[in-house]
Amino acid sequence: MCGIVGYVGPGPAAAIIMSGLKRLEYRGYDSAGVAVVTSDDAGSRIALAKRAGKIGNLAGALDAEPMPVDGVGVGHTRWATHGVPNDLNAHPHLSFDGRVAVVHNGIIENHAALRAELGAAGIATVSDTDTEVVAHLLAQELEAGRRLPDAMRAVCNRLDGAFTLVAVDRDDPATVVGARRNSPLVVGIGDGESYLASDVAAFIDHTREAIELGQDQVVEIRAGEVRVTGFDGRPAQTRPYHVDWDTSAAQKDGYDWFMRKEIYEQPKAVADTLLGRYDTDGSLRLDELRISESELRRVNKIIIVACGTAFYSGLVAKYAIEHWTRIACEVELAHEFRYRDPIVDANTLVVCISQSGETADSLMAIRHASEQGARVLAICNTNGSTIPRESDAVIYTHAGPEIGVASTKGFTTQLVACYLLGLYLAQVRGTLFGDEIARLMDELEQMPQTIQGVLDDAEPVLKLAADFAEQPSVLFLGRHVGYPVALEGALKLKELAYIHAEGFAAGELKHGPIALIDQGLPVFVVVPPLGRDMLHDKVVSNIAEIRARGALTVVLAEEDDEAVGPLADVWIRLPKVSTLLQPLAATVPLQLFACELATRKGHDVDQPRNLAKSVTVE
Ligand code: F6R
Repeated sequence: MCGIVGYVGPGPAAAIIMSGLKRLEYRGYDSAGVAVVTSDDAGSRIALAKRAGKIGNLAGALDAEPMPVDGVGVGHTRWATHGVPNDLNAHPHLSFDGRVAVVHNGIIENHAALRAELGAAGIATVSDTDTEVVAHLLAQELEAGRRLPDAMRAVCNRLDGAFTLVAVDRDDPATVVGARRNSPLVVGIGDGESYLASDVAAFIDHTREAIELGQDQVVEIRAGEVRVTGFDGRPAQTRPYHVDWDTSAAQKDGYDWFMRKEIYEQPKAVADTLLGRYDTDGSLRLDELRISESELRRVNKIIIVACGTAFYSGLVAKYAIEHWTRIACEVELAHEFRYRDPIVDANTLVVCISQSGETADSLMAIRHASEQGARVLAICNTNGSTIPRESDAVIYTHAGPEIGVASTKGFTTQLVACYLLGLYLAQVRGTLFGDEIARLMDELEQMPQTIQGVLDDAEPVLKLAADFAEQPSVLFLGRHVGYPVALEGALKLKELAYIHAEGFAAGELKHGPIALIDQGLPVFVVVPPLGRDMLHDKVVSNIAEIRARGALTVVLAEEDDEAVGPLADVWIRLPKVSTLLQPLAATVPLQLFACELATRKGHDVDQPRNLAKSVTVE
């Protein structure tokens, strides 16, 4: 949440920062701003521009009144926490003396006390943000004779909460200083220029060489020079890395939305996540898994923690992991986990699923799990992010950057990583025979083609979205692994189309939700594959029950499942796959449906209202 860019180098700072912000707009789009420190014969000054609304508004303002070309600078695109999204609350914030400009991602929890302290010293704040106090505190430190990096360390030691801060000092026009605690910040190393950003996407046009910053670190960048220290002032260890995707991955490639592009990228993303995991000798290899086989054999409980769509992938994983490994597996919303005093010990494996690797709720959950002695494994899509760094082990999903705010290829590749984990545990613990694992791996390796088939046959789903554009409410039902698919289908519709959508376990319907069924209400039903006859037949009965009460049934069922024919007002035909893997195929039409329906309603699909990707506040 909130995107930050800092730049030092010979290039046009404001233009470079604006293009970086554009790439980070998925992190927040309530307002945006840029500050550039520039010098001429008259001395140094900070040029500042900020506007409520999307970056386009700021770009318009800069076209009308351009910024100075030379200098160093910072920029910000905001997801509002404290203070409504208006020009005044937009970042950067200036200090009382105009010497410091600062941008912030996170929440300064003790801002009220600091504001009162500044007030007592005669410094009044002008905005409603928690951020502005930082600008004034930094200026006080500079006034006392400190340099900006020392001032930043001193101020950070006084702040509570989560924050990435990036600041410039009018009187030091060659330096940008950043700091991070519980919120992301990466460094980009260019040729004679340096970048700070919430995400590598901001500087991928200029360099693919990056440095991961650790917790509680301050970074100073000058042209071609980077210095990192802890909040205590000691030099800190950092990890340089090469970004394994390039600028082409961050383009829409002719699609109307990043989301639609990412839906269509799923065959490749799934194939990339599977790549190199299965040896020709028939054994699974998870190279990044830094937990020994003997430790994995000792695991007697798995707890999956995640939020939103990632949580739903965890719900699917539970069915597969328990079935294949016979290890008890709980799935918990990360923000609930640590507040209920969970029973966790050294034999518990906590699996954290996070596309961004920065979700604050998930990060806090794994910290709690580690403190209790559990081993933590991350399933993550973002190299260099905090969650894998703070975990004992990681399985990276190789989906490439996910820019659409609604997760799509993130979800399917999380499913693949969960299946790989389940099968690997089964291999290590001997709960599945080699030929059983081989059969499942064969099917997983077929999945890119299977998903491609679903995408190629998408026309009926797109037409359905057009027909349903005026529907005020849609329900989704599923059973077993179809239940999380139903939840995911409903979430996608809520967040993109802003209509009432709910997912239910089909068996739960008669315990209350069936009262919602009314004449013409669209209900999507995910039908388990044929072959799990009891499960399948129960869901078919559920369809009959809702149809008898007037529901308009949209049935996702295998292409030859003739039992559903008479009960389906609309039949979305799914390819034949085994039960546990069905979510990989069944979710795709629901993603397309939500994307198309939101498009028909005229919504901004990549930037739905009130949302942002990478939720870095609790
Ligand atoms: C929904 C969506 C969110 C995320 C959730 C977790 O489409 O994208 O629900 O899944 O915020 O994000 P990560 O996976 O980055 O931890």
